[in-house]
Amino acid sequence: MAPPKLPRLDALDVDNRRVFVRVDFNVPLGNDGTVRDDTRIRAALPTLRSLRERGARLVVASHLGRPKGRVVPALSMEPVAARLAELLDCEVRLPDEVVGDAARRLVLETRAGQITMLENLRFHPGETSNDPEFAKALAELADAYVNDAFGTCHRAHASVVGVPRLIPERAAGRLLAKEVDALSKVAYDPAHPFVAIVGGAKVSDKAELLDALVRRLGRGDAVLVGGAMANTFLYARGEAVGASLVERDATATCRRIVDLAAGREVDLLLPVDAVVARSPEAARGEVRVVGRDPIAEDEAIYDIGPATAKAFAERLDGAATVFWNGPMGMFESPAFAEGTLAVARAVAACEGFTVVGGGDSLAAVAATGVGDRIDHLSTGGGASLAFVEGRTLPGIAALTGEEAA
Ligand code: 3PG
Repeated sequence: MAPPKLPRLDALDVDNRRVFVRVDFNVPLGNDGTVRDDTRIRAALPTLRSLRERGARLVVASHLGRPKGRVVPALSMEPVAARLAELLDCEVRLPDEVVGDAARRLVLETRAGQITMLENLRFHPGETSNDPEFAKALAELADAYVNDAFGTCHRAHASVVGVPRLIPERAAGRLLAKEVDALSKVAYDPAHPFVAIVGGAKVSDKAELLDALVRRLGRGDAVLVGGAMANTFLYARGEAVGASLVERDATATCRRIVDLAAGREVDLLLPVDAVVARSPEAARGEVRVVGRDPIAEDEAIYDIGPATAKAFAERLDGAATVFWNGPMGMFESPAFAEGTLAVARAVAACEGFTVVGGGDSLAAVAATGVGDRIDHLSTGGGASLAFVEGRTLPGIAALTGEEAA
C-alpha cells in the first residue's frame, strides 16, 4: 500500500476565482460562547493566507458540533468567524444561512483576497446525509475546491465528498498535505524500531488500530497499552482488577491481539503497576500504587503506576518511529494524570520521528509544554486513527478520484 498522492494547492489556478475551502473548525467553545482552543483555526492559516495572497475569493466552510440538521444558535460559526478575522486581521463575512439567496449574494460579492464563511454546514440535514442537491448548491458557489479539513476526512459528508466530486479543479490544503505526510510515515513503511502507545477507555474502540499496528510491526518493535483498555487485557489473562472498568465481551479480542503480537515477535507491554482508588473522585492523598500487592475488590485502576511509566519510557528510548494515541488513565483528574503526563515527556524525549493524535494525548502534551519537541501533533481524532489503521479516508479519495475503502 502506498500513501495517497494529493493534488497540490500550488498547482491550482485561484486568481480572482471563487475557491470553496472546507476546513475543520470544529473547535471547543467556552461558557461565554467564544473559542476556547483555536488550534484548528490556526492550523488552517497557511492555506488561507496562501490563497488570499494569490487573489482567491474565499468561501470558507466548516461544521461545528453535531446540530443534527437543525439551526442551533449556540453552534453558530459567529465566534469562529470572529477568531479567524482576528488571526488574519481581515474581515470575515458570515451570512445567517448555509445555502440560499443571502449566502449566494455574499459569496458573489466576495472580492479577491476577501473571505466569506458559510454558517455551520451541519445546520443543513443534507451535509451528513451527503445529499446530492445540497452538494450541488454548495458546489455552485465556487470555481475550485480545497480540502484542508483533515479532522473530517473520515466522514463521507456532502462538503467532504459530494462537493469535490462536482468540482474538477481541486486540491489539498497545506494542513491536509502535512497530516498525510506525517501520518504516512506511521501508516506506510515506517522506520524501525517502531513503538506505538495506545490508551483510552475501550478495547473495542482501538481493536482495529491495534490489529493494524501489530500486523505492520515485527521483532524489535513494541506496542505499549495503557488506560482503562489495559484493564481488559489484564483481566483477559486472569489478573485481578478489582472494581476497574473492564469490557468483559472484549476479552477474546485481547487474546487474539496478544497472540498476533507474539506470533510476529512484537513486544506487547501491559502495565506492571497501577494507581488505584475507591472512587474516581479520590484526591491525591486517597490513592495508592499497586504493584505486586493485590488490588482490593472495591478498588479500581485509574492510571498506570510509576514502574509502568518508567518501563514505557525505557522502551521509547531509541525508537525510530513513535505513534501515541489515547490517555494512560483518567487524565482529567489531577490524582490520575501523572501516567499520561509521564508518557508525554517520554515521547518528547525520544529522538525518533514522533506523532501524537487524540484529544487527551494532545492535552497532556500541552500541559507538559513539550509540543515543540514532538514532530507532528495531529489535528484529527477519528481521522488520524482511520488513517493509521490504513483505511482510505473518503475525503482524501474524493480529492484524488479513488474510491474510499
Ligand atoms: C472531529 O472533531 O473529530 C471532527 O471535526 C469530526 O467531528 P464529528 O466526529 O462530529 O464528525
